[in-house]
Amino acid sequence: MSKKNLKLGLFGFGCVGQGLYHVLHETHGVKAEIKKICVKHHNKTRPISESFFTFNKEEILNDPEIDVVVELIDDAKAAFEIVKTALEHGKAVVTANKKMLAEHLEEIYDLQRKHGKPVLYEGSVCGSIPILRNLEEYYDNDLINSIEGIFNGSTNYILTKVFEEKKSYSDALKKAQELGFAESDPSLDVQGYDPKYKLVIAIAHTFGVFVKPEEVINIGIDRISDLDLKFARDNGYFIKLIARAFKADGKIYGFVAPQFIEAVNPLASVRNEFNAVQVQGAFAEKQLFIGKGAGSYPTGSAVLSDISALTYDYAYEYKKLLQGDNHEFSNALLVDVFVSFELGTNITIQDFAKFESGYAAQGKQYMVGQVSLSKLQQWSALEGVGIILAPNSSFVALDSASTDLVEELKSA
Ligand code: HSE
Repeated sequence: MSKKNLKLGLFGFGCVGQGLYHVLHETHGVKAEIKKICVKHHNKTRPISESFFTFNKEEILNDPEIDVVVELIDDAKAAFEIVKTALEHGKAVVTANKKMLAEHLEEIYDLQRKHGKPVLYEGSVCGSIPILRNLEEYYDNDLINSIEGIFNGSTNYILTKVFEEKKSYSDALKKAQELGFAESDPSLDVQGYDPKYKLVIAIAHTFGVFVKPEEVINIGIDRISDLDLKFARDNGYFIKLIARAFKADGKIYGFVAPQFIEAVNPLASVRNEFNAVQVQGAFAEKQLFIGKGAGSYPTGSAVLSDISALTYDYAYEYKKLLQGDNHEFSNALLVDVFVSFELGTNITIQDFAKFESGYAAQGKQYMVGQVSLSKLQQWSALEGVGIILAPNSSFVALDSASTDLVEELKSA
């Protein structure tokens, strides 16, 4: 690309689009300017000159002067069509649309190769934390054992407010929406879909595996009860929604679930909309990245960093994929959990691979023990069942020949 000044065609002018506009104008080093912005709604007052806006996507996609399409809309289906057409028209793409990327990553990989144009998406995973380019460039080897952390700002914000300030769950969620952290459909945040999409993208750049989002189990924070919070406080734990993926016996495992976190764990101090990504390598060992994972300017700055990378012709090489290890993705895993449910729910001791303890309190039944991920997925579909991973849960591969504990992969 290496042109003097990149011309950008922007799709969407919501929270992240406006954030990008702001950071682009405050930053002097990036040689790029917005030529047009395509938006959907006609009757909205917008904070910049009307001359920027169009309602016709062809005005951007067919403009030969526009080098880069920056896709920042909400609708994953429409976003994929924009990305596809932009590449077909010889334009580079920057996007922060994690749902679209997670659902179409392999196709987007193929389209980049076919059309010889890059798609960059640092802003799609953990907002301002520069994780994807680090996975591609710094961790340019196959020795990463695991990647895990807090991949969703809204739920971390909600958990912080509920836990520390005793705010109600609904008030905290409302505030997360007002602050522009939550998705327009906030169930994507609280039910763990959003961090799952990010995990799917991270898995491709960490282990070279394309996983479909529907293959990855996600359990959200929406079932966490006052009793769970009390249990956490009484035992000196925090609760965090953790996304994790790791390699064991040549397979890749990955899932999203809430977990009790000990106060000494560095993730315990990651509060509000901050995210954290912990990468564990064979030699470098644990490294922790912390930064704002949601919000207009932090995400806008990640998008701007991608635009800047295009000015020096950067493209993801998908290095782990090209190493050709062909790891299989598996859910055949036992984890240690605390399960809470209404008396009468069809959950019994026999469901546990290893049962540790159980008690009843305030009309609820609690059980603690080791359970398969697939069982957890079944339970998460049942009304009123709360699932929280034990602190330092072990992970036991169900289908490994040895079924050894993956000791070194003990969580965080
Ligand atoms: N809803 C997302 C979050 C926005 O809360 O993390 C950033 O991806």
